[in-house]
Amino acid sequence: MLFVAVLGAWPVPADAAAEGRALAQKLCARCHAIDPDAPWNSIGSTPSFMLMAKKLERYEQRILTVTSRRPHIAQRFSVSEDDLERILAYIRTLKRD
Ligand code: HEC
Repeated sequence: MLFVAVLGAWPVPADAAAEGRALAQKLCARCHAIDPDAPWNSIGSTPSFMLMAKKLERYEQRILTVTSRRPHIAQRFSVSEDDLERILAYIRTLKRD
């Protein structure tokens, strides 16, 4: 699987993407469209997770460092690096073509 290869030794379980989806629902869906079945469910200016998947080379690092980026920095997210890896694993599954 691609994300396992990319992450190398990181101990992300096989169902990381499913866990990532649940985490995204809890932490990100308030402001981002995270689900291709509900693409309009977001606040105005946020990039959707589908867009991030499409432009992953641009967004990968931004996702992993999201807690220190505006506007998220003000949100005081408590999301671990492992959980961000899971969210990233979920986003990878949204990549089409
Ligand atoms: C309170 C609303 C809110 C929540 C919750 C939120 N975001 Fe965002 N996010 C935004 C906004 C607004 C932007 C657009 C910022 C901009 O245009 O500069 C954004 C942009 C981003 C970007 C692009 C950043 C960049 O520098 O280009 C990423 C990646 C991102 N969000 C990931 C996430 C993830 C992952 C979560 C869940 C852990 C999350 N966001 C939760 C509001 C939110």
